[in-house]
Amino acid sequence: MATSYDIVIFGASGFTGKYVVREALKFLDSPNSPIKTIALAGRNPNKLSETLNWASKSHTTAAVPLLLADATDPPSLRRMASQAKIVLNCVGPYRYYGEPVVAACVEAGCDYLDISGEPEFMERVEAVYHEKAVEKGSLVVSACGFDSVPAELGFLFNSRQWVSPAVPNRVEAYLTVESDRSVVANFATYESAVLGVANADKLVALRRSRPKRARPQIRGPAPVRGPGSAIEYHKKLGLWSVKLPSADATVVRRTLCILAENPKGLQGVNEDPKQANKRAAFWSTIKPAHLGVKITAKTRPGILRILAIGLSIGMLSSYPHGRWLLLNFPWVFSLGVFKKKGPTEEEVASARFKMLFVGHGFSDSELVYKGSGKPDTEIVTRVTGPDAGYVATPILLIQCALILLQQRGDLPKGGVFPPGIVFGPTDLQDRLQENGISFDLISKSRISST
Ligand SMILES: NC(=O)c1ccc[n+]([C@@H]2O[C@H](COP(=O)([O-])OP(=O)(O)OC[C@H]3O[C@@H](n4cnc5c(N)ncnc54)[C@H](OP(=O)(O)O)[C@@H]3O)[C@@H](O)[C@H]2O)c1
Repeated sequence: MATSYDIVIFGASGFTGKYVVREALKFLDSPNSPIKTIALAGRNPNKLSETLNWASKSHTTAAVPLLLADATDPPSLRRMASQAKIVLNCVGPYRYYGEPVVAACVEAGCDYLDISGEPEFMERVEAVYHEKAVEKGSLVVSACGFDSVPAELGFLFNSRQWVSPAVPNRVEAYLTVESDRSVVANFATYESAVLGVANADKLVALRRSRPKRARPQIRGPAPVRGPGSAIEYHKKLGLWSVKLPSADATVVRRTLCILAENPKGLQGVNEDPKQANKRAAFWSTIKPAHLGVKITAKTRPGILRILAIGLSIGMLSSYPHGRWLLLNFPWVFSLGVFKKKGPTEEEVASARFKMLFVGHGFSDSELVYKGSGKPDTEIVTRVTGPDAGYVATPILLIQCALILLQQRGDLPKGGVFPPGIVFGPTDLQDRLQENGISFDLISKSRISST
């Protein structure tokens, strides 16, 4: 029988992959860790070896074997998946390389986590593989990185602050990315964003082709849709902001739809009645709300710079020549934010993120139908952490993997799900708190409803 590794990190040689390897190795030799074996996988053994040297001076390829697998070679993916309990897929853009990896994991019945921020990939995988993944006992969870665990858990954390009879109506998440040096990210994330905008029509067509899902029951008025590029100044926060068309709102929405269909959450494959009650109790504290995500800057020139990057991607992505320009001159069109070589280690170490969740709702759900019908209560919560792409993302991914290894019986037998519905009722938030990603209640206050 082939060796079974607790985790196989596919795309270990990539910019993010190598930070994921470094984070995973912290748990390889620690006493109570469920990670007893790790293998690195990719298409180039020399690069995998360099990754291992960079990530750890103390581990050799004898302790951490290297597996050859290429996303364009399905038999190599099947060999990899057949040796894994969990594959952590760090090979992107996922729209190009992700689906064969999911197919191999589902076929092998192993679990699969990734750090995709591409809604079309995630929803296509759900449409094509969910039923087979249930049958095979393969749990497939995309978006286990900065996209979209802070948004999912941050939203659930804000929701839990609304104690009955209070109900939320809308949560606006304000994302701030800061650094003592420069905010820099690797090219692959930019490429995924450009390709996402270029193929927006495919996502619309995919959604139209799928059966209608249960809708979350949100109390109070639907948000007024404004122009996507409108800049706003939030006086209380002292921040300028503009809408961020990231995956977060769509991922949270999927979690809320699954919750509407399964009000007690998803049954664990081998959970006992106590755990089932705990899960149901957790979800009974969650009240659905609309979620919007905005990116912020402290100054007007700062937000204009972000808007300029967004507009250039929005305007040029749809045309082949425009795409060529965007993808060949990323540092020009992203005004220096995205680089083909990625950030330096110093830039990664000095970056951090902050996500403020400003929830508006009603102190009593009855008020939805009385008076002005406008929210009278504001609850502000916050998620903070280190560099979003290369420090927070590996922490988030590895903590999700640790939960899979330690608490598999409490999680669904298989299927394709967003992270919130799977990890929401687990101890993921506590684990993140212990690993440098904090969740805080900032304020609860009355606001004018007239
Ligand atoms: N959720 C988040 O917040 C978050 C954060 C960071 C990154 N990401 C996403 O993660 C993905 C990777 O980003 P990155 O910056 O690490 O990119 P990268 O540096 O370009 O790394 C890509 C990796 O994929 C591998 N690869 C490419 N084609 C392959 C193939 N055919 N078969 C096997 N391996 C292949 C590369 O292998 P070689 O070394 O052999 O070329 C490399 O290991 C992107 O989609 C990015 O958007 C998400």
